[in-house]
Amino acid sequence: MRISVIGCGYLGAVHAACMAKLGHDVVGIDVDDRKIQELAAARAPFYEPGLEDLLKEVQATGRLTFTTDLSAAEGSAVHFVCVGTPQKKGENGADLTYVDAATAGLLPYLAPGDVVVGKSTVPVGTASRLARRVQAQQPTAHLVWNPEFLREGHAVADTLHPDRLVYGVSDGSEDNAAVAVLDEVYTATLSSGTPRLVTDHPTAELVKTAANSFLATKISFINAMAEVCEAAGADVTQLADAIGMDDRIGRKFLNAGIGFGGGCLPKDIRAFMARAGELGADQALTFLREVDAINMRRRTRVVELARDLCDGSLLGKRVTVLGAAFKPESDDVRDSPALSIAAQLQLQGAVVTVTDPKALTNAARRFPELHYESDTSTAIEKADALLLLTEWQEYRDLDPYSLVDVVSFPRVLDGRNVLDAAKWRAAGWNYRGLGRP
Ligand code: UGA
Repeated sequence: MRISVIGCGYLGAVHAACMAKLGHDVVGIDVDDRKIQELAAARAPFYEPGLEDLLKEVQATGRLTFTTDLSAAEGSAVHFVCVGTPQKKGENGADLTYVDAATAGLLPYLAPGDVVVGKSTVPVGTASRLARRVQAQQPTAHLVWNPEFLREGHAVADTLHPDRLVYGVSDGSEDNAAVAVLDEVYTATLSSGTPRLVTDHPTAELVKTAANSFLATKISFINAMAEVCEAAGADVTQLADAIGMDDRIGRKFLNAGIGFGGGCLPKDIRAFMARAGELGADQALTFLREVDAINMRRRTRVVELARDLCDGSLLGKRVTVLGAAFKPESDDVRDSPALSIAAQLQLQGAVVTVTDPKALTNAARRFPELHYESDTSTAIEKADALLLLTEWQEYRDLDPYSLVDVVSFPRVLDGRNVLDAAKWRAAGWNYRGLGRP
């Protein structure tokens, strides 16, 4: 099939490459010329494992091209809208400027029977509103909401082998003509056994926001338990292992630490609360305010613990922050808890050095006032305290025995509870975890 993908960020670039991998002829379109030039040269404009190899593989087949010219969408039967929906400045709601602009820009190029497929995370009600615009322009065209559940760091595998496909169509019916078109797009995925659900527009939109809200709630739940464990002298990691053995609870997303960040969970729960308020259902989501508050408290708690670890004062202390990305295997620093903690430590007088295998360029753009060092050993030298804040494998693998003589004071704060506390202590370190004795 001929497919256009509007928006080539973390979502769209991966989606375009994966659609070409599934055998379609794909054009990726974005307003950012630099991004398009990189992608056209089969280079990933951000770090995502496997993406660059996939770009090379599919571009060699001639099935994937990139352009800044929206008119290239003409002739495609299916148009995926993959643009960002960031948090509005100074407000909790989602900024729909890009979704609205992409849809409006696409309208002149729609042919009868075309299917516009929204993948961006949007407030419930957006799809029906956009469907009216599409049909006003092209009465036989369709708008489907097909939310994306990929995780950064696993984006290629998540797109090619999703847990489920959700199609939100205007009448919520299996017989809707757009269902057969999307089934054709996803033939390979469906034939490998991926379940698919057909539903209406609002349900499809809500599936996405509900899923992210549940994940955020799970993380904040375990972080709340970490607070209680700290007060009671208990160990949150063992608690998570034990409750996670109950299938109904599950161990995934129960890692206590410095909390969630990134371009999705924080802004999605806020936009969800804002939208529920507009719908008169704000009471239903007041718990998400607490989820957000627990999450933000983690950052303050880590700064307090770092101060404790440095004998009660951060002034002039050389603190090395291991990790700047919001999670490992990504160079994304949007709402990164690690960076926000690094900035707070610096504001409180610490001499902070931040290191990360992939995210330093993005970090320096966001927090130019922090000091960055790409070489881990140099970053660690003569530190008064190490703070592990993003659990990259290379930091998990650090050897406490060989590092003990490299630092000025062997103090480590494990913000993700991934180090072997007993081993670090045996090597002479003052080890502190979160929610662990
Ligand atoms: C999240 C969802 O997991 C995806 O399903 C969704 O498609 C995506 O948002 C989106 O809306 O586009 P992502 O933001 O890539 O994916 O990252 P996650 O793996 O969900 O991690 C989010 C944050 O939670 C990270 O900062 C991570 O360190 C933190 N986290 C995760 C914890 O603190 N504890 C955990 O147990 C798990």
